[in-house]
Amino acid sequence: MLMLIDHANVEAIEKTLDYLPIDGVTTNPTILYREGKEPLDLLRRIRDVLPVGSQIHVQIVSQRADDMVAEAKALRSALSGNLFIKLPVTREGFAAIPRIVKEGMQVTATGIHSSMQGFMAAKAGARYVAPYVNRMDNYGIDGVRVATEIHKTLRSYDMHADVLAASFKNSEQVLELVRQGVGAITAAPDVLAALIKNPATDAAIADQNRDFGFLIGEKRTWLDLVNER
Ligand code: E4P
Repeated sequence: MLMLIDHANVEAIEKTLDYLPIDGVTTNPTILYREGKEPLDLLRRIRDVLPVGSQIHVQIVSQRADDMVAEAKALRSALSGNLFIKLPVTREGFAAIPRIVKEGMQVTATGIHSSMQGFMAAKAGARYVAPYVNRMDNYGIDGVRVATEIHKTLRSYDMHADVLAASFKNSEQVLELVRQGVGAITAAPDVLAALIKNPATDAAIADQNRDFGFLIGEKRTWLDLVNER
């Protein structure tokens, strides 16, 4: 399962890369707007702080298929790297998916709020299909269930596409999709941080270290013991 950062703040991305196994970054127009910077320069900075080969997903904003194709080509020429063109699952977006794939680009179908949209986007040629888990929950649709259903459908037809589950607000939503074995998830740095945070872990390690401190002296480590030899 791939883990991506759904954010465009370079400092937050770098801090997350420092301690988590991350496979790339996803952005959308709102995420870029929040940073208030020239977006192409920002995307290049993001690409440059990511390990070589990391995925970077960028969303097309044109409304018509012809314009989406032109926009994708322009983006491709301006942003080298492992770029994924995010296309909304609108009628025009569907029309653009196979055309952009034919141009040799990788597509992530985004804005998915139903199992059928996910299946059809994969059939149209998208490499990733991105169900919006929390947004579906907010509409009274079980987002985890829809993402799981899309995943199972893609696997049962052996399609060359994976779920890239998106729009998370808590780690429980992510955990359920990890259990289901979906191909990828993308989440904001705070949600990713919550995936590994557990107060019981902190308490257990603090107890153990305190005890070792009683033995060798507070704040001392194996390094001190070895250097004193
Ligand atoms: C992912 O590709 C989407 O851009 C994103 O996860 C949407 O999340 P939101 O519901 O926080 O806007």
